[in-house]
Amino acid sequence: MKIGILISGRGSNMAAIADAVARGDIPGAEIAVVVSDKPGAAGLVKAAERGIEAIAIPRSGRIREDHDRELVAALTERGIELVCLAGYMRLLSPFFIRSFPNRIVNIHPSLLPSFKGLDAQRQAFEYGVRITGCTVHFVDEELDHGAIILQKAVAVADDDTAETLSARILEQEHASYIEALRLICGGNYRIEGRRIEFGS
Ligand code: GRF
Repeated sequence: MKIGILISGRGSNMAAIADAVARGDIPGAEIAVVVSDKPGAAGLVKAAERGIEAIAIPRSGRIREDHDRELVAALTERGIELVCLAGYMRLLSPFFIRSFPNRIVNIHPSLLPSFKGLDAQRQAFEYGVRITGCTVHFVDEELDHGAIILQKAVAVADDDTAETLSARILEQEHASYIEALRLICGGNYRIEGRRIEFGS
């Protein structure tokens, strides 16, 4: 499975996935390219250090669909079969999503459907929930909405701040993304509406 990872910033999820692939922990997976919409993204350096092709396709000043057409062209040229969003901070156009039907995966730092959108860890912290976590899901045309592949829970401690909570969620994000990709690359699943049946 040829994977393309889209990032916008730090790229810690991307690095965790790349390291897992290098260790042989995601059988059948190959990271073929990492693309950032921000030329200065630290994650591009992390990808290049790992010997992965790392390119920027800057978004700034561009109409979403024009930018997405260039992204899709770059991904299809490289034979990408699965797109992983890992801190990619731009909404995808319907054109992009229809170019990879059920072939785009995202990680979100809350237990969806709670706390969609930006700064989900802080939203959960300020709401006062006692349990939050992260979700790996397929991407559809609604924000943070597609079929859920895997979730991990993180308990909120009495002495947490939004920052300490985010750090513990991030550890679970890395483990979750690797586990989810192992399931998806294994190919042993079926999407039934919102539900994913594994082992079928
Ligand atoms: C993660 O918290 C991810 O869930 C969210 O954006 C953050 C990206 O972090 N979508 P990183 O770039 O993977 O370190």
